[in-house]
Amino acid sequence: MLPDLSITPATHSRLADVDFDDLGFGNVFSDHMFSMQYRDGRWQQPAVLPYGPVAVDPANATLHYGQAVFEGLKAFMGGDGTVRIFRPDMNYKRLCDSCERLCIPEPDAEHFYGAMEALIQLDHAWIPRRRGQALYIRPLIFSDESHLEVRPSQAFRFLVMTAPVRAYFDESAAAIELKVEEQYTRSAPGGTGAAKTSGNYAASLYPGELGRREGFAQVLWLDGREHRYVEEVGAMNIFFRIDGRVVTPSLVGTILPGVTRASVIQLMADAGDPVEERRIEIEEVVTAIREGRMQECFGAGTAAIIAPVGGIAYRGEHLSINDGQAGDVTRRLYDELTGIQLGEIADRHRWNRLVKIDAGESARRAAR
Ligand code: COI
Repeated sequence: MLPDLSITPATHSRLADVDFDDLGFGNVFSDHMFSMQYRDGRWQQPAVLPYGPVAVDPANATLHYGQAVFEGLKAFMGGDGTVRIFRPDMNYKRLCDSCERLCIPEPDAEHFYGAMEALIQLDHAWIPRRRGQALYIRPLIFSDESHLEVRPSQAFRFLVMTAPVRAYFDESAAAIELKVEEQYTRSAPGGTGAAKTSGNYAASLYPGELGRREGFAQVLWLDGREHRYVEEVGAMNIFFRIDGRVVTPSLVGTILPGVTRASVIQLMADAGDPVEERRIEIEEVVTAIREGRMQECFGAGTAAIIAPVGGIAYRGEHLSINDGQAGDVTRRLYDELTGIQLGEIADRHRWNRLVKIDAGESARRAAR
């Protein structure tokens, strides 16, 4: 536990109200949250509090100018009773990179890890146990200053909340469908596309909504300059298997450097089948599908896990991939990744950060 952490336990747990057979994504939140404030040039007052609303002033700069960054990572409860947080070091690094881009002071690593470990100690009963489910951890940093000048703030709030979730896309569907977006742009060279910041998601809402009305789960973003190269899917990075080779767009500064993306690349290299990271023209993708050379396509993301893509729509044409079914590599990667996360497969790269639940403390709390 963090030495300077204050803990105010929830007086009533909401756990009994949660239907673990019918989890959505990010609709219910565990009993506690972490909070820390940036004031006078330093992060201070780390605290665990009952989950609940946070008061913000109407002039809060985040509400107006979007100075906010966040992360998404997951904790798993294995059949062996061990809690594993998947690759939090990568999320910490990306959070720091996002902070730099958004002029936000980085929290130190001790509080980043300490916050989620304290929450897991208190709320470990909220960690789902089924494959595909997890305790999603959402760290968030936003300006906590009231002003209407367009300038970096001097006061911030760091919150961490946790939520029992299923995969982002309902896994009972065989695969998702994507719409290639040629009119709107998620991110442009020199913009914030590589940072995990709220504005990127705000920019995606309108095109995403247009796609959803046509029945597409997500849009497939192309580069902002020419609408020629494939970039990502917003909720995940994208991979194709063309002529037996797995390819994914290279990180050119406009694409989010996904933790699951990096994990897929490592697992494929381990299997002796390295992923090609390069620029991929949408015409290459479309031609490969038309010529029957596209064996499979999948997205990779913390929330999405490994999500099969069964087809894409391009200029009004629907192009089916692998008869709308998950391919062999997609399935293998899903099994391997979730197997490592649940402790069923050897964690040869030491990706998991283990959290030992203090059963004595849990019992003491329950008795209070
Ligand atoms: C994640 O995968 O953690 C994300 O933040 C994606 C978000 C759209 C749920």
